[in-house]
Amino acid sequence: MPGFAPAPQSPASPDWAAIRQDFPILNQQIHGHPLVYLDNAATSQKPRSVLDALRKYYEFDNANVHRGIHELSNRATAAYEAARTRAAVFFNARTPDEIIFTRGTTEGVNLVARSWGEKFIGKGDGILITEMEHHSNLVPWQMLAAKTGARLHFLPVQGDGGLLDLSRLEEQLSGVKLLALTHISNSLGTVNPVAEICALARKHGVTTLVDAAQSAGHRPVDVQEIGCDFLVASSHKMCGPTGFGMLYGRGEILEQTPPFHGGGEMIVTVSYESSTWKSGAHKFEAGTPDMSGAVGFHAAMDYLDQIGRERIARHDQQLGEYAYEQLSGLSGIRLFGPALGRAGLVSFLLPDVHAHDLVMLADQRGVALRGGHHCNQPLMHKLGVESTARASFYFYNTTSEIDTLVEVLKDIRKFFAD
Ligand code: ALA
Repeated sequence: MPGFAPAPQSPASPDWAAIRQDFPILNQQIHGHPLVYLDNAATSQKPRSVLDALRKYYEFDNANVHRGIHELSNRATAAYEAARTRAAVFFNARTPDEIIFTRGTTEGVNLVARSWGEKFIGKGDGILITEMEHHSNLVPWQMLAAKTGARLHFLPVQGDGGLLDLSRLEEQLSGVKLLALTHISNSLGTVNPVAEICALARKHGVTTLVDAAQSAGHRPVDVQEIGCDFLVASSHKMCGPTGFGMLYGRGEILEQTPPFHGGGEMIVTVSYESSTWKSGAHKFEAGTPDMSGAVGFHAAMDYLDQIGRERIARHDQQLGEYAYEQLSGLSGIRLFGPALGRAGLVSFLLPDVHAHDLVMLADQRGVALRGGHHCNQPLMHKLGVESTARASFYFYNTTSEIDTLVEVLKDIRKFFAD
C-alpha cells in the first residue's frame, strides 16, 4: 500500500525483559505482592508508545474529522485515515476501504448480522457457528435467526480437549449461507484451522466471518491467506485503547451491504425525503468516530510489528504449553483445551474450589486471573461446569510468573483442604 510499510522488526531475538519495561502498569504491588497480570484475554495492557500517541493526539491534533478545513481538522483526518491504511497493511486487506472502524469485535459482528444478514439471510437458510463461540458471535446470530426464520447450526466441540469436530463439516455446510467462527477460543485456548475451514466454505458458496478477538494481537492474521469474507477484532486486546476495533469486509461484499447506522459522515446527499450514501468503509461509519482510538490503535499495530507477530505467537504458545504442563502437576486439577499447539491461555478447575473463590484468593497474592463463564455459557453447560478459572498470557509475561501462579494455587488447595 503506497506510503505505508510495517515498522521494521529488530533482527535479534527480542529482549522480553526489556519489552516488559514498556508497560508502566505492570510495575506495581497489589495487596503487598508484585502484580502478576494473567488476564490478557479480557484486555491487554498498553505500552508507553500507545499512551504517548493518545496524549500527543489530545495535546496537539484533536479536532473533528472529514468536515473541517482548518489545520487541526486536517491533521485529525490524516491521522484517522492513516490508521485505516495501517490496519489494511496489518491485516493484509486489499485496500483501506475494506477496513471499517468499530467499537470492537461485538459491534463488528452485529454490523454484519444486521446489515449483511438482514439482506442476504432468509427463512430456512442455515447459519453455522461453533459450540465454542463467545456470546458476541452467538447472540447476534440468534437475533438474526429469530427475525428472519433462519436456522442456527453448530460445529461440535470434542469435550475437555477443546478441538472442533470437523469430520462432518462438508455435510454441515449444506444449506448454509453463513459460517461464523472464532480463530482462537477465549476459554479453551484452541486455535482453529480457519484458513482450511474457510476454503471449504468458499467451495460451497458459503460466506465466512472470523472472530479474531483473541488472535489479532497474538499472531499474524492475514485476511487474504485465511480467505474469509469478514473478520472482526478489538484494539484493546492488542495493546491498543478500549472501545475501538475493526471489521474487515471483502470489497465486493461491502459494496452490496447496506449501511448499519444512518447519520452524518456516511451520506453523500440528503433531502427531507431521502439520502444517498458513500461507498466503501465510510458508508458504515455514521457520526463522529473515535479519532483518538484510531491513533492509539495505529501506535499499537506499529508496536506489535516492531516486536514481530511470529515471535509473539511462538512466545505465547511456549507460555501456554508451559502453564498447561506445570498446572497438570497439581493433583485433581481439570484442564480445558488442547495440551499442545494451544494459544497462550489456560482454563482450569481445582477440585472443590469455586472459580470465583480461587480468583479472589489469587488476587490477594497479586495474581490477576478471570473466573466465570467467560461469555461462553452454552459451552460451560456442555462441559458440565458453571465456570472455570482462566490464566491468559501475553508477551510481557514470564515463566516465573507462571511458577508463582502454581505456588499460589497449591496454597489455595491447601487452604480448602485444611
Ligand atoms: N471476551 C473477553 C474475555 O474472554 C472479555 O475475557
